[in-house]
Amino acid sequence: MRALVKASRDVGLDFVADRPMPTGCHGVVGEPGPTEVLIRVKKAGVCGTDRHIYEWDEWAQGRIPTGIVTGHEFAGVVEAVGPGVERFKPGMRVSGEGHITKWQDYNSRTGNAHIARDTKIIGVDRDGCFADYLLLPQSNVWPLHDEIPDEFGAVMDPLGNAVHTVMEAGVSAKSVLITGVGIIGLMAVSVARAAGASRIFVTDANPARLELAKELGADEAFHAIEDEGFIERIREQTHGEGVDVLLEISGVPSAINQGFEALRNGGTASLLGIPSKTMTFDLTRHIIFKGAKVHGINGRRMWETWYQMETLLLTRKLGLRKIITHEIPMEDYNRAFELMQSGEGIKVVLNIGA
Ligand SMILES: NC(=O)c1ccc[n+]([C@@H]2O[C@H](COP(=O)([O-])OP(=O)(O)OC[C@H]3O[C@@H](n4cnc5c(N)ncnc54)[C@H](O)[C@@H]3O)[C@@H](O)[C@H]2O)c1
Ligand SMILES: [Zn+2]
Repeated sequence: MRALVKASRDVGLDFVADRPMPTGCHGVVGEPGPTEVLIRVKKAGVCGTDRHIYEWDEWAQGRIPTGIVTGHEFAGVVEAVGPGVERFKPGMRVSGEGHITKWQDYNSRTGNAHIARDTKIIGVDRDGCFADYLLLPQSNVWPLHDEIPDEFGAVMDPLGNAVHTVMEAGVSAKSVLITGVGIIGLMAVSVARAAGASRIFVTDANPARLELAKELGADEAFHAIEDEGFIERIREQTHGEGVDVLLEISGVPSAINQGFEALRNGGTASLLGIPSKTMTFDLTRHIIFKGAKVHGINGRRMWETWYQMETLLLTRKLGLRKIITHEIPMEDYNRAFELMQSGEGIKVVLNIGA
């Protein structure tokens, strides 16, 4: 099969035309194990994580095993199932959760599998979906609703990050600040709007993304560096208090500080963005004396977030078409990363199979 492989400890990915088919957990090449599902991949989203792996930064060097098939966001069709699989049949359209757990640790068994201790991520710790075929345990496969197109199925992983971040805080009839409107932040604007936020403020350092955030439903967009005094403007519109909810989706330390500055006393923050290194933060002022409630957000809740995503997608209120800026053939993967690096592309989807 064709695959994009991290073949060497260096920048880039290798296009391989003759990668062997995935091996089932019972050791047979190209055949799903008893409870596994073999998926023919149709479309796959390119993510910031893939960019780290492509650029071979410090994080990637410390985490990614060479020889791995990359990619973790996908939509496809079931090709074959193991004998113990009843729910999925060949031909069914599916997406799937890329965080795999053995469902044995404390969190997996108590409704919090998204923070399982033994989580392995496809395209990071084991073979992923930038390939003609992907093998997943049946417990990780999500049936794709007939009315949800493949290109949306291929971005359910980041959309799920956005939905999880929004829903964990709760935004209905609340004022919301989203710091960072990149891929996931833009999705969060759309989700927060659909979920009934009363007023949505956003910040970013990229004017084009701020414009798009407004198109997707943000009421006011501020340049995090150039719009001095924007926090005061937010307070003026929130009874002088600050926002009810902060959704931090940039991972940039200055944005995190601004976000908490703009959060009202007793407000709620959902933090998804990942700072690239340890940062200093005024815990006393921003959390303790403020009485702030803070949620760390990791991945997607299984499967609450997926049900919420399906419901939201079926309302057709999410502006995903504006966020998926490019769909290109898998062979042009270098261009996908160039589009992300230049900022010309936001969400780039690879067309892998028909
Ligand atoms: N916790 C998780 O499970 C999880 C999952 C996926 C991604 N993430 C993290 O979420 C964050 C967002 O991911 P993404 O794919 O949307 O990335 P992205 O690069 O598309 O978005 C980041 C955005 O932050 C903006 N930004 C830069 N400086 C800023 C500033 N000073 N103030 C406000 N915004 C600023 C950028 O212009 C960009 O639009 C990243 O930190 C990523 O690592 C976390
Ligand atoms: Zn991703």
